[in-house]
Amino acid sequence: MPRVRVRGAGIVGLACADELARRGHEVEVVDARPGSGASRAAAGMLSPSSEVWHGEEVLLGLGAESRAAWPAWAARLGVPLHTGGVLLVGLDAGDLSQVERQAALLTRLGAAAEPLGGRELRRLEPGLGRVTGGALLRDDAAVDPRAVVAALHERVEVHADPGPGPCDVEVWATGAWLPRPWRHLVRGVRGEVVRLRCGDPPCRTVRGWVAGAPTYVVPRPGSPGTAVEVVVGATSEEHDGPPVPTLGGVHRLLDGARLLLPGLDRAEVVEVLARDRPATADGLPLVGPAPQGRPDGTGPGSGARHLLAAGHHRHGVLLAPLTARLIADLVDDPAADPHPALDPRRTS
Ligand code: GLY
Repeated sequence: MPRVRVRGAGIVGLACADELARRGHEVEVVDARPGSGASRAAAGMLSPSSEVWHGEEVLLGLGAESRAAWPAWAARLGVPLHTGGVLLVGLDAGDLSQVERQAALLTRLGAAAEPLGGRELRRLEPGLGRVTGGALLRDDAAVDPRAVVAALHERVEVHADPGPGPCDVEVWATGAWLPRPWRHLVRGVRGEVVRLRCGDPPCRTVRGWVAGAPTYVVPRPGSPGTAVEVVVGATSEEHDGPPVPTLGGVHRLLDGARLLLPGLDRAEVVEVLARDRPATADGLPLVGPAPQGRPDGTGPGSGARHLLAAGHHRHGVLLAPLTARLIADLVDDPAADPHPALDPRRTS
């Protein structure tokens, strides 16, 4: 069996390492700060439908495929899924037409989106504010990414530095940063999130359009009546500097969340953070053989095969089990074709 080195211990890298180890490969995971990148900020929506937009049909299909793998994967890791569906809501009439366009697109693509008026929405989610209307995405779910990362971390050993020996395959799952000559293939898109603790959280994820801006509120499963974690997200901003939370970003998030769910006014603020999402030029992840060249473009290299598992942008948590399977298939069979839409060589 080839010896595999996985670079990056976020949810994607750890998922790949776990799947490879499960298939009997000798795996080494290298990350000086495991789980501290985009996975740390992720809200954990397993919601291919609520984030889809025109031109992203391929992504919807991939998301649905990976969503289908989640129940068995989460059960194996011992992590609960929150399967109450996702409510897509619009605050004013303009926001509602945005939701209606999204619901029409989903229906055209064969994904379930049940339209609901304001009153029906409040019957399902009594804490909702004065939303105009929306839709229920019954198949969508959520998970706590930090719990997933912790469960995976228990199953695979992570080292701060690579061991001295060579490896046969190197998998680059380093999020918004890739080494040269692939560095230009991903760019950081800052996402800010706020974590709250709340005694009366919504029953399910609410993703709303609020005066033209998207805001989501993701509750963690918990016992009724006890305070639970609620994640409010997320801003989205192309930028050059380090991903720090900004006053303007946090203000927009909290304002949006309070308009969607006024009861959040009483929630305790636990954490504010920002991370870079790893975005690609065409919006699709890079999963498969790296385009020509060796990392950093220097030296003779070790002769290892290089695979990329990067550029998951908004979808790293959702696509982790699918990515792990695709990467492990490529390690198992070097002659296998990568997924055509995800092949990183499409960029060269
Ligand atoms: N998938 C949620 C986000 O990127 O904000």
